[in-house]
Amino acid sequence: MKIIVSVSDMHKQADRLRREGKIIGFVPTMGYLHEGHLSLIREAKKHSDIIVMSIFVNPTQFGPGEDFKDYPRDFDRDAMLAESAGCDIIFHPNVQEIYPENHKTYVEVEQITKVLCGASRPTHFRGVTTIVAKLFNIIKPHVAVFGQKDAQQAIVIKRMVQDLNFDLKILVAPIMREPDGLAMSSRNIYLTPEQRKEAAILYQSLMQAKQMIEQGERNADQIKAQIRSMIEQQPDAKIDYIEIVDTTNLNPVQQLEGEVLIALAVKIGKPRLIDNVFVRI
Ligand code: PAF
Repeated sequence: MKIIVSVSDMHKQADRLRREGKIIGFVPTMGYLHEGHLSLIREAKKHSDIIVMSIFVNPTQFGPGEDFKDYPRDFDRDAMLAESAGCDIIFHPNVQEIYPENHKTYVEVEQITKVLCGASRPTHFRGVTTIVAKLFNIIKPHVAVFGQKDAQQAIVIKRMVQDLNFDLKILVAPIMREPDGLAMSSRNIYLTPEQRKEAAILYQSLMQAKQMIEQGERNADQIKAQIRSMIEQQPDAKIDYIEIVDTTNLNPVQQLEGEVLIALAVKIGKPRLIDNVFVRI
């Protein structure tokens, strides 16, 4: 497995691979890999000849007071895990390489970035779309794989790819979960053992919502109230949002029909955890 740290070396490598007719699959990450990331590599391998994973903790997607400095990092462990899952190249630039002092350009998707996570993290998606657009230009992938855990992120990236005519395919891989249902996340490491137990309620409440829908409930307020009451029983849980939205424009729905996204964000102790399910009526 190769490790590339400069944009110019990555450009050269991507050009060489494309000249050789290789399909480049790309998995963007901020590192501190877990099984969820490795599942994205496996998904990418089904559609490509060469897998490039980026490991870059992107400062522009963290707001003031968020955990950019403390975000967990362990490059040696990441490299070992990525290689064992079949990654061919890790792109691991430093901040200066990506955002030199005179960097002035940002990519912003409007409207759908202002709701859900965007409501409490107003600059987050501008940072995500900027780094992802840059990585697409640097790595030149044919296919890129994102996780469904960040459902809004995947919808925003798909919008950007269409709107800016990027010539690549976006795939979204299912959420990987711990045995008790908690969605895997690098930030789960911040949970104390007690909070870790409480965190299982997020998935349980989503499953309860799904069951209500299967039993005929169509009123979004009723479903959200049920989720809220389950989560509020956990002493350390502070709800940021619980929403049921249309899967394309992310507008809230009142009466469920077609496909909807049930999404939530809850702070449990230090980390703010997100989870979601798609439901087709
Ligand atoms: O999902 C993430 O880990 C990040 O938002 C991404 C896509 C790697 C951009 O920094």
